[in-house]
Amino acid sequence: MKNQKDRIIIFDTTLRDGEQSPGASLNMDEKLTIARQLAKLGVDVIEAGFPYASPGDFEAVQKIAEVVGTEVGPTICGLARATKKDIEAAAAAVKPAAKPRIHTFIATSDIHLEYKLKKTRAEVVATAEEMVAYAKSFVEDVEFSPEDAGRSDPEFLYEVLTRAIAAGATTVNIPDTVGYTVPSEFGALIRGIKENVPNIDQAIISVHGHNDLGLAVANFLEAVKNGARQLECTINGIGERAGNAALEELVMGLYVRRKYYNPFFGREPESQEPLTNIDTRQLYKTSRLVSNLTGMLVQPNKAIVGANAFAHESGIHQDGVLKHKLTYEIMDAQSIGFNDNQIVLGKLSGRHAFSSRLQELGFELSEGELNKAFVKFKEVADKKKEITDWDLESIVNDEIQQPPELFRLELVQVSCGSSSRPTATVTLRNPQGEELTDAAIGTGPIDAIYEAINRVTNMPNQLIEFSVQSVTAGIDALGEVTIRLKHGDRIFSGHAANTDIIVASAYAYVNALNRLYAALQKEKEEGRKVLAQA
Ligand code: KIV
Ligand code: ZN
Repeated sequence: MKNQKDRIIIFDTTLRDGEQSPGASLNMDEKLTIARQLAKLGVDVIEAGFPYASPGDFEAVQKIAEVVGTEVGPTICGLARATKKDIEAAAAAVKPAAKPRIHTFIATSDIHLEYKLKKTRAEVVATAEEMVAYAKSFVEDVEFSPEDAGRSDPEFLYEVLTRAIAAGATTVNIPDTVGYTVPSEFGALIRGIKENVPNIDQAIISVHGHNDLGLAVANFLEAVKNGARQLECTINGIGERAGNAALEELVMGLYVRRKYYNPFFGREPESQEPLTNIDTRQLYKTSRLVSNLTGMLVQPNKAIVGANAFAHESGIHQDGVLKHKLTYEIMDAQSIGFNDNQIVLGKLSGRHAFSSRLQELGFELSEGELNKAFVKFKEVADKKKEITDWDLESIVNDEIQQPPELFRLELVQVSCGSSSRPTATVTLRNPQGEELTDAAIGTGPIDAIYEAINRVTNMPNQLIEFSVQSVTAGIDALGEVTIRLKHGDRIFSGHAANTDIIVASAYAYVNALNRLYAALQKEKEEGRKVLAQA
């Protein structure tokens, strides 16, 4: 294998740190779908979850290890605090992977030691050393993180890292846990580690950072110049609080500016050898998938994958781009797979054409899934003459990647207008198979539908976000509705697409309620288990 220090290792933590975004929780099938797409994207490591955190997390990491962690697939990593129980759970979960990794961490900043861990520095070093060695007894590939490294005393960090490497850590990850550092400082921290940790050559230096000040990507790129060779990031930058460093921004930064970064890898500036293993043409698709499944919308002006990232509005820019693309474009939309969105299918297209185009787009559907998606395609094609690649993606994401339908929307009917009170009637099939109908009035048609659905489902919640986006331009475009609702202190998202946005709104709401219902059922189930064990 080529020396890992000659290029960047992309460590994706969308399924672990990304899933810590409020409301971004994913079910097992959704995690598996994202993991498969991450493998296609070419990430080197997938941090699939925190196995000790819950049985659901454990199962998801284990399943991803089994299905995606093949010999040719990425390394599958499980997170563990520096405790034996956490490490044992992570070891068992990643075991089916061909390349398993355990990532263990303990905080090193004085603030965390004093207020959170209530441990002395000597105790932290001893625990780090002991737990890295314990993780090493299960797997060869062990990553160690001194949490809140960005606010830790560098001298203490050098000592902890030296001992962790001596105990067997093969990657040492430097987290800016609270997104506090600025690029020059973070770069200097990495340089200090390279210069002062005597055994640093035996490990890869990794970085992890949050975006509280909007500096995560800039910090990472500075770290790369100073010797970091693994970047921990998430798709669309989702994650705890303001999120993590965005994978697509890092990858494209290193790609578009390779001439600038190449010398830091000992290469000629003109070298065309890629700095990462990422297939950049999969970036846009991965971004849409993660956004649809987590309900975390991508802002239109988001770098690389935002809807406006390649749109030129001002006349001067449009004129320049028409004369020569390079006048105002530093990268080609095709390079991230933001293709021209050509019209590919229509009402008369058959199952074969439909299935071949999905294959070309990289979807691997089972026979049952394909049948379901084809029925939806026909429905859409009846209303919308021309079906584009983006429509197809939306249809598949909507039809296939949904949580198991517990409540099923059978009918929705609304009456509204300037001189009538919005009224909705809905019929739903409940998880017991009964058909229930109710009606309600509201401030608008969607409010009336949601009120009527609430009367049937009886799961109190507060709608905190509602958004409609059009998949393509045109009056007959598919509308995608994404909603987030709150139940207690938990947030659930829902997503649906339809040519009728009122109908899409109803489906999106039922979709979110089904996630809430599944979570409540799971809690009940786990409560019962605890009682049975007591
Ligand atoms: O932000 C952080 O410090 C983390 C660690 C577990 C690496 O997520
Ligand atoms: Zn983090």
